[in-house]
Amino acid sequence: MKIKDKHYRTIWLHPQKESVVQVIDQRLLPHRFEIVDLKTVDEVCDAIKQMTVRGAPLIGAAAAWGMYLSTFEMPGNCERDFYFEDVYRKLIQTRPTAVNLKWALDEMLQSITGNDSLEESRWYAKTRVQWICDDDVKTNQQIGVHGLALIEELAAKKNGAPVNILTHCNAGWLATVDYGTATAPIYLAKEKGIDVHVYVSETRPRNQGAQLTAWEFVEENIPHTLIADNAAGHLMQHGKVDLVLVGTDRTSVTGDVCNKIGTYLKALAAYDNHVPFYAAVPSTSIDWHMRDAFEEIKIEERSADEVKYVQGLHDGKIKSVLISPEHTPASNYAFDITPSKYVTGLITEKGICEASEEGIRGLFPEKKIIPSS
Ligand code: MRU
Repeated sequence: MKIKDKHYRTIWLHPQKESVVQVIDQRLLPHRFEIVDLKTVDEVCDAIKQMTVRGAPLIGAAAAWGMYLSTFEMPGNCERDFYFEDVYRKLIQTRPTAVNLKWALDEMLQSITGNDSLEESRWYAKTRVQWICDDDVKTNQQIGVHGLALIEELAAKKNGAPVNILTHCNAGWLATVDYGTATAPIYLAKEKGIDVHVYVSETRPRNQGAQLTAWEFVEENIPHTLIADNAAGHLMQHGKVDLVLVGTDRTSVTGDVCNKIGTYLKALAAYDNHVPFYAAVPSTSIDWHMRDAFEEIKIEERSADEVKYVQGLHDGKIKSVLISPEHTPASNYAFDITPSKYVTGLITEKGICEASEEGIRGLFPEKKIIPSS
C-alpha cells in the first residue's frame, strides 16, 4: 500500500544486496517509520518474537525469508538438508498460534531440501519465498473482491449513508505482505467510491488497532474512529455498526476462528445485536488438520509488561509508561477463539462460506481435511 504516495510491501529483498531482507519496524509505528535490515536467521527469529513484524501472513512470509537467508549462513562442514531442518525448527518456535508460520516453513522446506548444491537450494528458496509473497497479495485482493459484495449490499440498503464497519487488531496490509485481509474489502470499497467509515478498536495490550490500523487508514484516507476496546458492545447496541470484519491466525476445519484477544467478545456483542460478524480467512490461515480448536490451539502468552506498560509518543520520543502498581501481577493471553456459531461467515480467496466444515469443504474440495474420528 502507499505511504506518502510511495508503494510499499511489508517485507522485500534489498534491491542491491541478495543476502539482506528489509522490513518496516512495526514497533515504532505510527510515530516513526523505520526500515530494518535482516541478514541472519537469528535476526528473523527476533523480528518475529519481538513483533518488528507481526500478523499471521507476514509472520509466515518473514519465516520463509529466514529459510532463504539461512543459505548464506550455512557452515561448510554440515549436512545441508539436516542444517535446513534445524533452521526450520528454530523458526517454527518463534510464535505458537498463527498457522501461516508452519504453512510457509513447510513450503520452504520442500523447496530448499533435496537439491544438488547450496546454490540450487538458494535459487529454489528464493523462487518459493517470492511465490509465497506474491500469492499472499493475490489472495488478499481476492478476499477484497468477495468481501466487497457484503459492503455493497449494506450500502444499497443504507441509500448512500456510510457503511459503518468495526474491526479489531490489525488485519491490514501491515499484517500481510500487502493489501491486508479484513481491510481488503474496505480498501476496495473506497476505490469504488462507496462511503465507508471504520470503528478501529484500540486492541490492548499492544494497541495494533490504535497504532497500526489507524495509521494505515490515515495514509489511505479511510474515514475512521478509534474506540476503546470496551466500547464496541455499546456501539452495536445503539445500531452504529453495520458489519464486523476481523482477521484470523488459525481457523479450524469446523470454522472456529482464533484471532487477537478480544475478538470473541466482539463476536458475542455482534451476535446479541444481530450485527453480521465476518472473519477474513486466507486458506493459508486454515489449519486443515485441526477439528477441535479449544483442545488443539496453542494460545500464546506474552510478557506481563505488555499489559502493565503502554507505549506512546512524549516530547517527540517513543516511551513506555507503567499504568499499574509496579508489583501488580498481570497475565497476557494474545489470542482467543470465537466458536463458529458466532461467525456469520468466512471471507476466503475463493468466496464466502458458512463457518462450518461443510462450508469450507464446499469452497476447497481439493483440500485433504482430517476426517472426524
Ligand atoms: O499479535 P499479532 O499482532 O501478530 O496478531 C495479529 C492478529 O491477530 C491478526 O488479526 C491476524 O494475524 C490476522 S492478520 C491478517
